[in-house]
Amino acid sequence: MIEEIDRTSSSRDGQAPLLTVAGVAIGYTVDRKFNLAVGDVSFEVLRGEKVMLLGPSGCGKSTLLKTVAGFIEPAAGTVALAGKRDLKPGPDRAVVFQEFDQLFPWRNVSDNIAYPLRINGRSKREASDTARRFLEMTNLSDAADRFPHQLSGGMKQRVAIARALALRPEILLMDEPFGSLDAQTRTRLQRELNEIAERTGVTILFVTHSIQEALVLGDRIVVLGQPPSIVKEIVDVRDVQLDTEDFIRVRRQLRELIADDGEEVDHAVYE
Ligand SMILES: Nc1ncnc2c1ncn2[C@@H]1O[C@H](COP(=O)(O)OP(=O)(O)O)[C@@H](O)[C@H]1O
Ligand SMILES: [Mg+2]
Repeated sequence: MIEEIDRTSSSRDGQAPLLTVAGVAIGYTVDRKFNLAVGDVSFEVLRGEKVMLLGPSGCGKSTLLKTVAGFIEPAAGTVALAGKRDLKPGPDRAVVFQEFDQLFPWRNVSDNIAYPLRINGRSKREASDTARRFLEMTNLSDAADRFPHQLSGGMKQRVAIARALALRPEILLMDEPFGSLDAQTRTRLQRELNEIAERTGVTILFVTHSIQEALVLGDRIVVLGQPPSIVKEIVDVRDVQLDTEDFIRVRRQLRELIADDGEEVDHAVYE
């Protein structure tokens, strides 16, 4: 595979971005009428970074993520991974969704992870060894032989994360993966994800409508406005520690950015 790395577009640290989203507009045709969901969005993700897409419900976060995944073509602008454009869906951009039904219901936990590896050409032995390793990392070893219907929502999401990570993606795309979990489980999985990111150095693009979640997980937060959305601001939060004065200040700043749009924060985002 030929990689056309764009050496002209270097960002902070002089490092070429892994993902470049430039002037992207995306819309849907409904009843022969084309409606823009994403108006004009540009941002970059560096290798090893955790970038959050934060914005109110309906502002086009999932649409953007699906475009990066290669499921939807943008109406304007470009998406490039390591300089490569016209991305088709592929294991270099593994996706974890919000829904609990994203696992193969007829395969046990171990095979849910091993099966996509087999499809992508790994040997049976390698696939099962890799599955075992990622089950350990996500604290699922004891559940290896269980089927999805025998798992809690939190465990299902852990399996989905393990399965995505096992593919060794260039970037992990996550669309509100903890959005349907109870608050306690959500907090635990956020902590686990931070530990996994630290351990693996995986690059993450994460969609959320929770200010708190964006702050807890993110290095940088791309704040989107109402549809057709534009980037309102990109906030660097990597040095913001949980529950410090700084944290409270940035949280207020993010609330104001979103409320600015005439959106009632309490309805638009969950804390
Ligand atoms: N498949 C689709 N067909 C038509 N309209 C869609 C489709 N998916 C999303 N939309 C519309 O695009 C807008 C953005 O949706 P979405 O990306 O799901 O927002 P978010 O993830 O930020 O809540 C919404 O107005 C939504 O109704
Ligand atoms: Mg969505």
